[in-house]
Amino acid sequence: MDATTPPLPLRSPEPVSFEPPRGMRDFYPEEMTWRDRVFEAFRQAAALHGFAPYDACVVERLELLQRKSGEEVASQIYAFEDKSGRKLALRPEMTPTLARMIAARQGQLHFPLKWSAIAQCFRYERMTRGRKREHYQWNLDIVGEAGVGAEAEILAAAAQALRTMGLPDEAYRIHVNNRALLSELLLKLDIEARHHPAVFLALDKRGKLPDDEIAALLAAEQVPSGGIARAFELLAVQGLDQAAELAGAGSTAVARLRELFELAESYGIADRLVFDIGVIRGLAYYTDIVFEAFDARREFRAIFGGGRYDNLLTSIGGAPTPAVGLGFGDVVVVEVLKAWLGADAGTVRDGVAVGYMFGAQREAAVRLAARLRREGRKVDLALAPQKPKAFFSRAGGGTCSQAVFIGPDDVAAGRAHLKDLSTREAVAITL
Ligand code: HAM
Repeated sequence: MDATTPPLPLRSPEPVSFEPPRGMRDFYPEEMTWRDRVFEAFRQAAALHGFAPYDACVVERLELLQRKSGEEVASQIYAFEDKSGRKLALRPEMTPTLARMIAARQGQLHFPLKWSAIAQCFRYERMTRGRKREHYQWNLDIVGEAGVGAEAEILAAAAQALRTMGLPDEAYRIHVNNRALLSELLLKLDIEARHHPAVFLALDKRGKLPDDEIAALLAAEQVPSGGIARAFELLAVQGLDQAAELAGAGSTAVARLRELFELAESYGIADRLVFDIGVIRGLAYYTDIVFEAFDARREFRAIFGGGRYDNLLTSIGGAPTPAVGLGFGDVVVVEVLKAWLGADAGTVRDGVAVGYMFGAQREAAVRLAARLRREGRKVDLALAPQKPKAFFSRAGGGTCSQAVFIGPDDVAAGRAHLKDLSTREAVAITL
């Protein structure tokens, strides 16, 4: 070592990690086929039900998101300052953005609006099965309609999307409740309306937190201790009839639920709807009917969730406007689809692999590929000559269901063989 050599560092630097940040997602082609299948079903169902697509910026003002998201979601926001010191954030959900967009153009829009988006969202969540820090969420919202016809239309569209994805109807249930019904029942238990938002959020944590922690949360909100036990008892209510009995005659909340269940019959989705007083939802802005869909075996978290939020627009300066919508993530549904259909079911095999043995057959292979592509076939053309074994082994593992391998004899005969990769049957085709 001479005098100019810098001294060695005492400790070697931390190795650089090239993993994606925790909870963020890469989509390799085999995952992308699932994502495409799900997104395609979202788009098709939205179009079939007359929803207009929209989109928005992923970066929002932090203040909008902090004020208008639920308490839990607000605490999970990825926030940062831009170079001018503006407080910004990656959106954790789409609903505050939708409300902002509608409030900004309220005078020019024709209500009711039916809007649909597939929004990339970010939440700094504790990572569990079905929960990532980045997810895509199909949002379907109807703004400007107070009747439960809006809820029915949204649930029908979601059911259609699941069917298009290939999930059998018996594989999931949509659990429906009404926060207004819970409010009516809580009032009957002498729990004052000012405590209801806190009670909703605490009850929503039932099963996720131990009961004594939930009781402590409620006590912190000054909910009287006798009330806490009575509120827990409400969750034992079985069926809409029992809830209706407790609510007494003239309950608008029960009437709305009954109307929704009746409408669901006409839509042909009633077999999948169940009343469930335990569905409350974690977001603060819901005012009335709320719903969550679960796989029938209850192995996974909610597939989608949503509800009515009639006050959100007013709270950001818009005119009073009823609204209802759902958020349907791409993570849980793919897990449910894999569990019901098999992990491999996402791969669509409908292409034709075209290969050739020597450079002399390249022209014939390219011409055949061009012809098949003109006919609308998906063609994976070999980029170099290959031995038959190598060609068929790659073709069999990809997205092709058929393959044509061209050798010198084929070109001389003016025909080749189109082989079915699963049955191995072959038919002759002209070159
Ligand atoms: P949410 O229940 O918070 O509602 O999310 C809706 C759906 O998004 C969930 O059921 C789940 O499928 C998916 N999701 C949420 N967080 C994650 C995560 N960390 N990882 C994977 N998937 C996730 C809302 O966000 C409301 N804004 C929905 C809505 C629209 N309400 C009315 N309009």
